[in-house]
Amino acid sequence: MPEAMRTAILISGRGSNMETLLKASASPDYPVEMALVLSNNPEAKGLTTASQAGIKAVALDHRDYADRDSFESALTARLLEAGIEMICLAGFMRLLNPAFVTKWHNRLINIHPSLLPAYKGLDTYARAIDAGETYAGCSVHYVRPEMDAGPIILQAAVHILDGDTPEGLASRVLAEEHRIYPEALKMVALGKVDVRNEKVVGYDPDAAIAALENQG
Ligand code: GAR
Repeated sequence: MPEAMRTAILISGRGSNMETLLKASASPDYPVEMALVLSNNPEAKGLTTASQAGIKAVALDHRDYADRDSFESALTARLLEAGIEMICLAGFMRLLNPAFVTKWHNRLINIHPSLLPAYKGLDTYARAIDAGETYAGCSVHYVRPEMDAGPIILQAAVHILDGDTPEGLASRVLAEEHRIYPEALKMVALGKVDVRNEKVVGYDPDAAIAALENQG
């Protein structure tokens, strides 16, 4: 088996997506080695979860830095020091400067709670409900300098129900996030995801979803 891809997860809070990624990578046939968890928020619950799982967990408080650039330089230093090849944003709620995003081009992925390109930004559930959508969902995508943009690797759709609340919808979307993020990262690590003309090509997303469903 080729060497596992050394990966870092960047979080800001709860870290439930981080946890599913850590669990997936604990399996010997998962092609990723989780080497580092970083949070801009020292209070992030996910830091404790990661430490308890035996993963190096580091807080880099953005408020300790004069500006975004110096914060991101410190971030880069930690990532390089740990030999990181791939970064997963998992509820990391800081915008990243174009210089950082460009440095990690196609080695930086994110999960967002909407069917991108719809509903970028915050409050995605309430906005989708208010707009009368019938579906919400989540997307794993490569990160580009524009917020919540970039080639989409995997998506999952969730029905919006009559009388749905943002909280109820969020918890059903989150269950799908936990399903697709480990799968998307696995596909990336196995080199199955190719980006051409800013679109992901080279695999059949329906087949990927079917494979996921077969895993139960
Ligand atoms: C997740 O729902 C994730 O999609 C969202 O934050 C939540 C983090 O939860 N991310 C964004 O909105 C990024 N634009 P978690 O900390 O439990 O993984």
